[in-house]
Amino acid sequence: MHILVIGGAGYIGSHVVKALMKANHKVSVFDNLSSGLESNLFAQNKFIKADILDYAALKNALLEKVDAVVHLAAKKAVGESMQKPEMYALNNISGTINILNAMAGTGVKNLVFSSSAAVYGNPQYVPIDEKHPLNPLSFYGFTKQDIENYMRWYEQLKGLRFVSLRYFNAVGYDEEGIVHGLEKNPQNLLPIMMEAILGKRPKLQIFGHDYDTKDGTCIRDYIHVTDLASAHVKALEFLHQGGDSQILNLGTEKGFSVLEMVQATQKVTGRNVPYEFAARRPGDPAIILASAKKARQILNWEPTHSQLENIISSTWNAYQKSSL
Ligand code: UD1
Repeated sequence: MHILVIGGAGYIGSHVVKALMKANHKVSVFDNLSSGLESNLFAQNKFIKADILDYAALKNALLEKVDAVVHLAAKKAVGESMQKPEMYALNNISGTINILNAMAGTGVKNLVFSSSAAVYGNPQYVPIDEKHPLNPLSFYGFTKQDIENYMRWYEQLKGLRFVSLRYFNAVGYDEEGIVHGLEKNPQNLLPIMMEAILGKRPKLQIFGHDYDTKDGTCIRDYIHVTDLASAHVKALEFLHQGGDSQILNLGTEKGFSVLEMVQATQKVTGRNVPYEFAARRPGDPAIILASAKKARQILNWEPTHSQLENIISSTWNAYQKSSL
């Protein structure tokens, strides 16, 4: 298949591109490089440097005999989405409407979309399955929920077929070290720990240690990007074989606390992670855990790279490479 990966120069996108190439698909990348990196591009793929708000550019890209689209081009900083909802509405929602319209206008039917566990909000039960009520706590999460609704309508009205993948906590780097571009301004736990080890920031602040969990710190479901990437390949193949639209959680169904992550990082890197306890971060639920049963059944997918050691060592390798 010829796949157009929109946002293919980003952190998750570049891993998806690599997995698609490995599965012998032809790939073109569409990215405005606002957060994606030129160094994440593969020389053999066509690269279109353009914005998803540019309808003509999208249409031209799709007219190159594209069989399916993977859309990962979105702003994803939760805090920023609450400060600048206009920017998130424009980029995430209007940008996706442009993609859906360009697909409808060119007859490209199959779409794999990057959604997020942020659509669920505070869990009413764990593990969270896809039937869990949706109540996003951030505007970012709302944009993902809203886009899923558009996709459902375009399915009904325009013959779109989609797989929406709700990622839990995406972590890790390509273990082969081919994709190793670091995210600009990372906001998540693992990159922050790496920066604390390397002295790029004074300390990790652990947000809250009085949660009702085994050690008082929050528990999350950390899934390796290589496992996320393989789910995209399988989702595209599923749609290609005539599968119907799906919304699927992607997680490992195992949880680790922040302190467990710190301890494992110290063990794997052999370095001290300087940290201090700080106040709870607003909107952080104590425990988030996926049920990924549906993805396992429908896509015949299994996470095989998400052992903590792999997650941490691959991240550490990417950070060490970048500080050479
Ligand atoms: C966040 C988003 C989520 C998004 C996901 C992937 C929130 C509330 N949720 O998940 O919507 O889909 O990223 O981008 O922002 N932590 C610290 N200190 C830090 C950073 C994090 O203690 O400096 C803790 C957090 O409290 C949390 C865990 O580490 O318990 C993971 O945090 P993070 O990597 O930011 O991801 P989430 O907040 O779980």
